[in-house]
Amino acid sequence: MAATKTPLTEMKAWKGLTEHYQAIRDVHMRTLFAKDPERGERMTAEGADLFLDYSKNRVNEETIKLLLELAEESGLRERIDAMFRGDKINITEDRAVLHVALRAPKGATIDVDGENVVPDVHQVLEAMSAFSNRIRSGEWKGHTGKPIKNVVNIGIGGSDLGPVMAYEALKHFSDRALTFRFVSNVDGTDFAEAVQDLDAAETLFIVASKTFTTLETMTNANTARDWLLSALGGDKDSVAKHFVAVSTNAEKVSEFGIDTANMFGFWDWVGGRYSMDSAIGLSTMLAVGPENFMAMLDGFHQMDEHFRTAPFEKNLPVLMALLSMWYSNFFGAETIAVLPYEQYLKRFPAYLQQLTMESNGKYITLAGQRVDYSTGTIYFGEPGTNGQHSFYQLIHQGTRLIPCDFIAFGKSLNPLGRHQDMLIANVFAQSEALAFGKTEEQVKAEGTADWLVPHRVFEGNRPSNTIFAKQLSPSVLGQLIALYEHCVLTQGTIWQINSFDQWGVELGKQLAQRIIPELENAELPELTHDSSTNNLIRRYRATKES
Ligand code: F6P
Repeated sequence: MAATKTPLTEMKAWKGLTEHYQAIRDVHMRTLFAKDPERGERMTAEGADLFLDYSKNRVNEETIKLLLELAEESGLRERIDAMFRGDKINITEDRAVLHVALRAPKGATIDVDGENVVPDVHQVLEAMSAFSNRIRSGEWKGHTGKPIKNVVNIGIGGSDLGPVMAYEALKHFSDRALTFRFVSNVDGTDFAEAVQDLDAAETLFIVASKTFTTLETMTNANTARDWLLSALGGDKDSVAKHFVAVSTNAEKVSEFGIDTANMFGFWDWVGGRYSMDSAIGLSTMLAVGPENFMAMLDGFHQMDEHFRTAPFEKNLPVLMALLSMWYSNFFGAETIAVLPYEQYLKRFPAYLQQLTMESNGKYITLAGQRVDYSTGTIYFGEPGTNGQHSFYQLIHQGTRLIPCDFIAFGKSLNPLGRHQDMLIANVFAQSEALAFGKTEEQVKAEGTADWLVPHRVFEGNRPSNTIFAKQLSPSVLGQLIALYEHCVLTQGTIWQINSFDQWGVELGKQLAQRIIPELENAELPELTHDSSTNNLIRRYRATKES
């Protein structure tokens, strides 16, 4: 049980913000910029290799001051320290929250239950590195003596989204002689399509599951084992050469038939959605090699240190979290669009959806009360410039307020003619258009017919952050992910919720377990669900039998 705190809406800073909101809600960014020519340079911050421009937000100095006071009053400093110290801040599961230990340097000390966990982390990293080197060099041979050419990661949620995202993000640094596939969905199509052109004799399956009990992953892992055995003549010994596991559950791993010598462990203090830098990142390490993986961890660590030590007014995750809450709790915004202008980050928004929404989609406070304010902003996005030709219309001229995080880089990993200048011109143009829009006078001055004028006016005043770095690299990727991880902690702390459990996914899982036999066996006695579910089950059974 957590100690009861002052409810968020009764905090002094919250009340100050509520009042301040009335004064600033209708002030246009055109006015804010006109009155304060230095704003674009001043409202910026840097952490590790990331530069944040937050000047295009509907804030002034007073807003930032009050938001920072809210962070202080909410006990953010103590909660950051508690997390880094290894306190069991995940109270509903009685666990420490120590993804930061996964990237702590070798000599660091972080205790959980009186034991330093950092040496264990590095032991697993060394085992992963040795294994990766054996696969990448061709030394590890499959059952028939062929080296491994294909790696299939089987996992879901945090055991999939991080690996897929990182594989795509770091493709430039990957070994192109290896093929990587990711199977997550229990829909058989996912597995069938992933392996349809693969030679089993050259394929390695990584079964990635923290619990090693997740229905989708275990179903896919069993199907993979059957596929392998049928392709390789049924010799059960082949499993050891073609399957490795990443899990916290050694017992279940060996029950499945994977030698625990080929298991890469992690710990209950690593949440699924915070695990891509643990052994869950084995596919990432196989793709980019141990050196690049370690560079990524170093990037995470740099952002951890920034978050831990930088004053809140210069702290990127804190500033971004506060701004996001300013819009969701005061302006009523429901979403944040994350818009990376970097094709390699095409899966980054999907990754962030689990990180942010599984973490902060909670309506119960740490003290067990229902919140009376909104939590858990919806994150979505697509890489630019593609999104511009899809949903940006609604961001520019729709009725909703959608704050945007633009992510851009100075240098392309694939410099081609004018492409990068054009890409970056677009990202800067978008944030400019969103903030300043186009007035009626400007539209009229272009000679637009009167009746068309309202359609062509952009009211502007639509906020955005721009996160800028020199170039995407393993280190910068680590920094970006840690930036959002810590943003989530900051939001969760102020909202007074537990960002580290996920009870909300349980009910659906339990009900599915009840329905599976009802679909498989039409002879089962009378269905006892509600009339809609009963009817759907009967319809499915009839379709199946037709
Ligand atoms: O969806 C719930 C969840 O527990 C996620 O938090 C987790 O990332 C995912 O399922 C997969 O869990 P596991 O790694 O244990 O298979």
